[in-house]
Amino acid sequence: MLRLLSLLLLLLLSAQSIFGEQPGARVTADFNQGWRFYLGDDAGAKDAAFNDAAWRALALPHDWSIEGKFDEKNPAKPEGGGLPTGIGWYRKTFVLPATAGRNVFIEFDGVYKHSEVWLNGHSLGYRPNGYISFRYELTPYLRPAGQPNVLAVRVDNSAQPDSRWYTGSGIYRNVRLVTTHQVAVDEWGTFVSTPNVSAQAATVAVQTQLRNATGQPRTVSLQTVLLDRGGQEVAWQLTSGVKLSGTAATVSQKLTLKNPHLWSVTKPYLYRVKTTVLAGQTVEDEYETPLGVRTCVFDGQRGFLLNGQPLRIQGVNQHHDLGALGAAVNVRAMQRQLQILRAMGCNSIRMSHNPPAPELLDLCDRMGFLVMDEAFDMWQKKKNSQDYHLDFKEWHRRDLEDQIRRDRNHPSVFVWSIGNEIREQFDSTGTRLARELTATVKRLDPTRPVTSALTEQVPEKNFISQAGVLDVLSFNYKHADYPELPKRFPGQKFLATEIAAAYETRGHYDLPSDSLRIWPKDGKTKLTTGNADFTASSYDHAAPYWGATHEAAWRAVRNSPFISGAFVWSGFDYLGEPLPYPWPARSSYFGLIDLAGFPKDAYYLYQSEWTTQPVLHLLPHWNWRPGQTVDVWAYYSQADEVELFLNGKSLGVKKKGADDLHVMWRVPFAPGTLQAISRRAGKTILTSTVKTAGPAAKIELTADRSQLRADAKDLSFITVRVLDAAGNLVPDAANLVKFTVSGPGFVAGVDNGYQASMEPFKASERKAYNGMCLTIIQTEEQAGAITIKATADGLSPASVTLTSN
Ligand code: GAL
Repeated sequence: MLRLLSLLLLLLLSAQSIFGEQPGARVTADFNQGWRFYLGDDAGAKDAAFNDAAWRALALPHDWSIEGKFDEKNPAKPEGGGLPTGIGWYRKTFVLPATAGRNVFIEFDGVYKHSEVWLNGHSLGYRPNGYISFRYELTPYLRPAGQPNVLAVRVDNSAQPDSRWYTGSGIYRNVRLVTTHQVAVDEWGTFVSTPNVSAQAATVAVQTQLRNATGQPRTVSLQTVLLDRGGQEVAWQLTSGVKLSGTAATVSQKLTLKNPHLWSVTKPYLYRVKTTVLAGQTVEDEYETPLGVRTCVFDGQRGFLLNGQPLRIQGVNQHHDLGALGAAVNVRAMQRQLQILRAMGCNSIRMSHNPPAPELLDLCDRMGFLVMDEAFDMWQKKKNSQDYHLDFKEWHRRDLEDQIRRDRNHPSVFVWSIGNEIREQFDSTGTRLARELTATVKRLDPTRPVTSALTEQVPEKNFISQAGVLDVLSFNYKHADYPELPKRFPGQKFLATEIAAAYETRGHYDLPSDSLRIWPKDGKTKLTTGNADFTASSYDHAAPYWGATHEAAWRAVRNSPFISGAFVWSGFDYLGEPLPYPWPARSSYFGLIDLAGFPKDAYYLYQSEWTTQPVLHLLPHWNWRPGQTVDVWAYYSQADEVELFLNGKSLGVKKKGADDLHVMWRVPFAPGTLQAISRRAGKTILTSTVKTAGPAAKIELTADRSQLRADAKDLSFITVRVLDAAGNLVPDAANLVKFTVSGPGFVAGVDNGYQASMEPFKASERKAYNGMCLTIIQTEEQAGAITIKATADGLSPASVTLTSN
């Protein structure tokens, strides 16, 4: 009976919203357009009356560092990417309609860093952490309807050296304007979890924090509806008589979801939780939260279990930059990175070493990636003189709380990390802080495990593990000691948060391939060897002393079933940390994929291990000196053997032994055709061919997407390859390729993946590197055909046409 009455009420309510009597209780508007920017400092710029007419007009998200010139003298140093930092100001003038009875907020997903925001000359707040999301209430300082308001944001990234990698500078994530009624769901005010999950039913626990800014006691009802992927209601609950006597109240509800579709990395099924706050007949707020029903369990013997099934963590570490686009958030650029990683078989991402953009987590929810959401790279003890250690004491609690409250509803987030290689590991402050930080996480999210990426594998010396609060012990590197871990830390659960850190430059090969290069060889010796052109060989035989080749590292994880899996350092190359080289090296060598998004050879090693699709990848290129001895490698899977042929003549059949991850032939070079054939039970599975290329003759353009949205955000990543007359990639081509664009689009960035290139990313030309480069085309708001033409001296040009609508 109760159920029937409630149903009737629900029908009445939905009829009401259909008739539009209570439209738009909550209005969320993109606030990225129409900003002005000045690179420099001007104390007067916070005042509403300040004249910013001469400032540059731009749209957010924006990263001013990526627009700058590489220079060894830039204070961020090569470690920080060698690009300019400094101070910048943003201003936006806007007019609002009448907002009586409403609260108006501005939400920033992230500003790097030390930002202060003013509305009409009133300071709204200061936020030092460049990776944290925050909002300010504008209501008290807004001018009457129709009159102009001015928001001013000062961003100070001048204190350097700050980070150990490139951060970007500016309002580099999205900004929104949110208006609500005075009674509304609070900021990040819902917490949805699934304490019991079985095939028959899931309990969905919903905690909703309400705010009451009316200044009066109010009584409301809270209605929670679960919607399936198709928008059908599958469970609901109405809690009436909720008394809001003060400014806030929390309501707890429990719903039962019958026959739940589970969220997994292969089938990331998402429900939506629709929260409606009602005062009598009035809809005070409507708010949606994603829900994925899944169980995540770490087991000391069996590793990680997703929905009760063992799942090896096949992960990578990712910094937040998007290569040539810098730190400026772009959803398509993030999605492309994830798609390239997914094709390698990657199922997990560690956001090293800071909270990511919220859109990245949305993508991971939808695409089925597990995420380690990490809070800090340092606590009180510094890694660089101007890094977050200076703000830690005052801000860490608030920053961590905000991170957890923002991200705890994402099914992709499966573990929190309270820090990476924290220096307090080595003294008793580590114990105290680990306890404090873990308690903060658990208070806001008791459902997920907490870890920290550690380096010290001796329990007596590790003051963080000694705190006894970490649910999972995560270790970086030192794979030789893995077999000892269960003995040293009995009963614990393990994860490898960083493995490998091997160096590679796409398309570059040093012979012989079995010579190991440990660069640098220890913590005291500076690298004096290395290649004069700042390249690292792609044979997976170079790594720093703390790292290892990919093969050695992955083999150790594979042979340690008690380790839940690993995150390779790193998925993509990133700006900054150009180890092992000095300037002009300015981006990392660790990626399985270069900065432009082109896979290096080691990508296929993981693809052969991490996917069930047949893989056959042959390396290197086939342009060498006659008579030179060349090591030919093949990564393969789903086959028993590989046979190699040079100009039709067999060079023998090779098979991987139980612990091998590739096969190799040592071949005296002769120009022509190298062909590998993989076979299973005598049947050909795959064939892979590399031919000796002649002189560069033409350009080839391949767009990753040719149907784009005319939203001024969408991107097409166009791969440029320099080919000989017969269509073979010229493996050392370095031609300067120029791009012209006609139609409603522009070049958002160019790159070639070479870690020591001093060419700017914001340009309409790029030299090919080892035969390839990239141009990124961004749409405008106008629809139409976009044609990109690529030309280079002495080469036949190429063009490609995209449709934007
Ligand atoms: C680790 C560190 C990472 C990165 C990596 C390079 O020690 O956690 O941020 O610096 O080394 O190997």
